[in-house]
Amino acid sequence: MAEPMSSSHFRMMKFFFKIRDLFRSPRKLVDEIGIKSGDKILDYGCGPGSYSIIAAEMTGESGKVHALDIHPLAIKSVKKKALKKGLTNIETIQTDCGTSLEDQSIDVVMMFDVFHDLENGKQVLKEMHRILKTNGKLAFDDHHLEDGEIRSRITEDGLFTLEKKDAHLYLFRKT
Ligand SMILES: C[S@@+](CC[C@H](N)C(=O)[O-])C[C@H]1O[C@@H](n2cnc3c(N)ncnc32)[C@H](O)[C@@H]1O
Repeated sequence: MAEPMSSSHFRMMKFFFKIRDLFRSPRKLVDEIGIKSGDKILDYGCGPGSYSIIAAEMTGESGKVHALDIHPLAIKSVKKKALKKGLTNIETIQTDCGTSLEDQSIDVVMMFDVFHDLENGKQVLKEMHRILKTNGKLAFDDHHLEDGEIRSRITEDGLFTLEKKDAHLYLFRKT
């Protein structure tokens, strides 16, 4: 099992993300994915849940968001936000890779600002490939990595192809 960051580091990150979200709307990024009502979504490395909450609002009651993180404080934060917003379509998963989700059960995986942190990136991509439906989307952003590195690391094992790239968002498709 990979080591989660310290609790004080997580709290600092959560504070920083509150400010980040004021300047770079998470809704704008999630809008670009093209989430449909009823979609099943996995937010891998959800952190405090900025993207999970918006995705849950977009997919609605017929859909579901699985908010996944290695850190217990992320799980706590997402649960608290979902409760406050009255969202009943969010479930949390605490893990560093394996999701226990069924094969080909997910329409969209979101991986935002987490891939650079993964020691087991290849293993995680394999797991995302397993749970995504045929043609499922991997929505990706990581400002810690260069454009070329993102393209090569996500596509090098032939599990995903790049469909489009906007200012921040990479949309890969399951092959
Ligand atoms: C920089 S934060 C990004 C959070 C969120 N995606 C966002 O952009 O608001 C990265 C998150 O990934 C989590 N994380 C790191 N390694 C992980 C792993 N192996 N599996 C699952 N989550 C992990 C961290 O605990 C942290 O909450």
